[in-house]
Amino acid sequence: MVALAPMAGVTDASYRQLIKKIAPGVIVYTEFLSTDALAYGAKKTMEMLSFDASIERPFIVQVFGDTPQHFLEAAKIIEDIGADGIDINMGCPAAKVVSSCHGAALIKNPKLAAELVHMTCKEVKIPVSVKTRLGWDRADTLISFCKGLEEAGAAAFAIHGRRYCDKFTGKADWSQIYELKKAVNVPVIGNGDVNSAQDAIEKLGNLDGVMVGRGTYGNPWVMAEICDAFAGKVAPVVPKTYIEKLPMILEHCELSVAIKGERLGMLEMRRHLSSYVKGFDGASDLRGKLVRVEKLQEAKALLMSAA
Ligand SMILES: Cc1cc2nc3c(=O)[nH]c(=O)nc-3n(C[C@H](O)[C@H](O)[C@H](O)COP(=O)(O)O)c2cc1C
Repeated sequence: MVALAPMAGVTDASYRQLIKKIAPGVIVYTEFLSTDALAYGAKKTMEMLSFDASIERPFIVQVFGDTPQHFLEAAKIIEDIGADGIDINMGCPAAKVVSSCHGAALIKNPKLAAELVHMTCKEVKIPVSVKTRLGWDRADTLISFCKGLEEAGAAAFAIHGRRYCDKFTGKADWSQIYELKKAVNVPVIGNGDVNSAQDAIEKLGNLDGVMVGRGTYGNPWVMAEICDAFAGKVAPVVPKTYIEKLPMILEHCELSVAIKGERLGMLEMRRHLSSYVKGFDGASDLRGKLVRVEKLQEAKALLMSAA
């Protein structure tokens, strides 16, 4: 199993569709969506549920929050739009998330965490999974925390191999994730610092899959390399040179504009464009222009001028 990690501000519909074109077997997640906003029918959050059912399968909607009734209502909405699963975020370390008792704060409140899983599962048939971290400030609480969630109905876990207190620093430690897999009866996916097929093969161990986030920045092709490596294919065919990558980069721009309109679509492409052109001759000059780009045609001309 290979999954694209949910990433707020990154894994919108255009990025998910791009990844699926490159690596059709990948599981994709939305950015995290507020259960409060879904329960109240907030327009912007409801729009973030849009997906292309012909490409984005399996499609998992990730949610966060702390009000059990809102998880129940959000779950019904998510099932109704035809999603394949619901994932609950219990790992986000952002200050405003944690201070609202959402995300990683739930690690410190296992009773509420289990109640949220229970309420999410209560009236839907699609599976409910949890993405969390090793722990709050220690890693030896992972197994008891997840076993409580499994009893409440969690059908799978994705574990980022860092504690809340590590935020994004240091190296991800997967050792407790392997121990968790031995202790539960549901799939466990490992996450953290997978940047290549070799990393994925080395880290997989006894787990059911790997989840990749930042390793896809500027290199969505890594997902095809990982899928091929897991399938035992020795020489995956992925573009290596800028010229070979260019058609997919242009397609990403077009997808973004088609889904979000030119102004927002190009604004959101800026960070991706900057990643795509990292590390080759003349890249810093080109990046300087790409991070200010406003029009699709302008981006295309700049990108093609570097070919
Ligand atoms: C920009 C950014 C946004 C993120 N947003 C989310 C999110 O919405 N939900 C979530 O569960 N994790 C989120 N994460 C964490 C990632 O899913 C992942 O756990 C983390 O980046 C470690 O994996 P990696 O080393 O493969 O990037 C985010 C990470 C980044 C860098």
